[in-house]
Amino acid sequence: MKRILVVAFMCILAVGCGQNAPKESESDMTNPVIENIMARRSVRHYTDQAVPREVLQQIAECGVNAPNAMNHQKWEVRIIDNEEYFVGLTNVMKGKSPFPVGDDDPKFRNVLRNATAAIAVACPDDETGMSLINVGLLCENVCLAAKSLGLGSVVMAGPVMMMNNIPEARPFLDKLNFSEGYKLRIIVGLGYPDEDPEAKPRDLGKIQFVE
Ligand SMILES: Cc1cc2nc3c(=O)[nH]c(=O)nc-3n(C[C@H](O)[C@H](O)[C@H](O)COP(=O)(O)O)c2cc1C
Repeated sequence: MKRILVVAFMCILAVGCGQNAPKESESDMTNPVIENIMARRSVRHYTDQAVPREVLQQIAECGVNAPNAMNHQKWEVRIIDNEEYFVGLTNVMKGKSPFPVGDDDPKFRNVLRNATAAIAVACPDDETGMSLINVGLLCENVCLAAKSLGLGSVVMAGPVMMMNNIPEARPFLDKLNFSEGYKLRIIVGLGYPDEDPEAKPRDLGKIQFVE
């Protein structure tokens, strides 16, 4: 009898603990938005196929429809689809980058992760950090819109840091023609994917309910 009570108590304890334990949701893959979010991955190899300008325009418009602080839209967006720009920037960065720039990659095309198009985003400095949050949200809209249209994307800060720091990259920054006070923050590479990367693991322990 005593043993039965102990087992029953352990069962109650186990069930009770289970209620608070974080549990992975079963993603609803019949929901196209959730499916799109869960299937997006950073793509770093693209086919030669050019992305039509109307598609790039639509993706950029999805970007600027992101939530942004007080709708002040403190951002500027530039679409790059000129191959000369990619090649020129790559030539400038080769030999300067602290990171490998693809010499060992037979499919290497350029330092923007081989993208055939890109969206560069600038915002002003601001003490609150809101402008950078706006830019981040814009970028995620760009990535998800791209994915939904069959394109790959990759958010890139590495090349941006180099562009902002290497004097030889100045002409490429100037070509973006951002307004006074606006600084290039991020570039999203785009194109038709030539790879289908696995999802990188996510730590669901970072998510907690507040009781
Ligand atoms: C702010 C930011 C900067 C990033 N910079 C780079 C970069 O310079 N080069 C790169 O290849 N990927 C870059 N990434 C992509 C991340 O490496 C990628 O999102 C992360 O590894 C998760 O993989 P996933 O996007 O495939 O889920 C950046 C992502 C973010 C959000």
